[in-house]
Amino acid sequence: MAIQWYPGHMHKAKKAIIERLKSVDMVIEVLDARLPASSENPLLAKLSADKPKLKILNKQDLADPERTAVWLAEFQSRPNTNAIALDASDRGAAAKLIEACRKLVPNRKGVDKPLRVLICGIPNVGKSTLINGMLGKKSAKTGNEPGITKAEQRLFLADDFWLYDTPGMLWPKIIVEESGYNLAASGAVGRNALDEETVALELLDYLRRHYLSLLQERYQADRDASSHWRDDEWLEWIGRKRGALLPGGRINYQKAAENTLTDFRDGQIGRITLETPQQWENWLKKARQHEAALKAEREARKAARKGQPLQEH
Ligand code: G4P
Repeated sequence: MAIQWYPGHMHKAKKAIIERLKSVDMVIEVLDARLPASSENPLLAKLSADKPKLKILNKQDLADPERTAVWLAEFQSRPNTNAIALDASDRGAAAKLIEACRKLVPNRKGVDKPLRVLICGIPNVGKSTLINGMLGKKSAKTGNEPGITKAEQRLFLADDFWLYDTPGMLWPKIIVEESGYNLAASGAVGRNALDEETVALELLDYLRRHYLSLLQERYQADRDASSHWRDDEWLEWIGRKRGALLPGGRINYQKAAENTLTDFRDGQIGRITLETPQQWENWLKKARQHEAALKAEREARKAARKGQPLQEH
């Protein structure tokens, strides 16, 4: 599976971000705590290499707390980077976020030297919710100012704290297969990109290997019998449990898949994180090897073609 997800507005967003990066002091990247690596934008890392960065692991209320701690340590070990975990229900989220920014760039304060922050995140990670929390009763100051693009917003959180908001963007090509599935499971990649049954089966395959007891509990499956079920057997069970049936009592797999994904997105199965730093490393390695093999094959075919006379069709 390869998701190619690069519609025009994301290309525009990339240009806007490159332009804005020239005049900000630091970058906040909002991530989904359930898939911190998959929701990270590799392009942003490249573009903003020299800027201090704050990674927000948002939706921590839905994520596995042990894994969140591991991910925070992983991000904090990167140069010039801090990371905090938040969730929308956390009333102090805005204050924590602002404090973390101030700590990261302590020399920018006072009206003469406002702290200028760019906030980015792929769609659905909760960026708007966080911004609204930071704004409180203040109204958003939008576009139509010199130097501010229409798609962009400049928000004055304090006289000396300016936040630039950019529209969501994803990367040109998702090369790590698992990240495509994880983004789809979280709802960040739209319905059209991948079919729900495939996404639900991938999710169930991960859950049965890493969160079996949560699955068993949520769907009241016999512990012994279900401990060896495959992903499709789980989907069938969920379909039966949730009454996703077609006439004649056959399973409506599409409906069962939708139920599974909704349960996951709402945190009904439990607090789950779909990747660890170690797993991510392995997936990345596998993807790179696959890319390299494809490239080598292509080169070999090209070389073979050059050595052969053109064939007539
Ligand atoms: P975006 O700007 O990054 O695209 O995301 P947005 O804030 O619109 O949030 C996307 C969805 O995620 C919203 O739910 C929002 O309520 C939810 N959300 C944001 N932050 C958190 C969080 O920390 N924890 C949890 N559990 N949910 C969070 P929605 O169903 O699309 O809308 P609604 O239910 O708020 O109406």
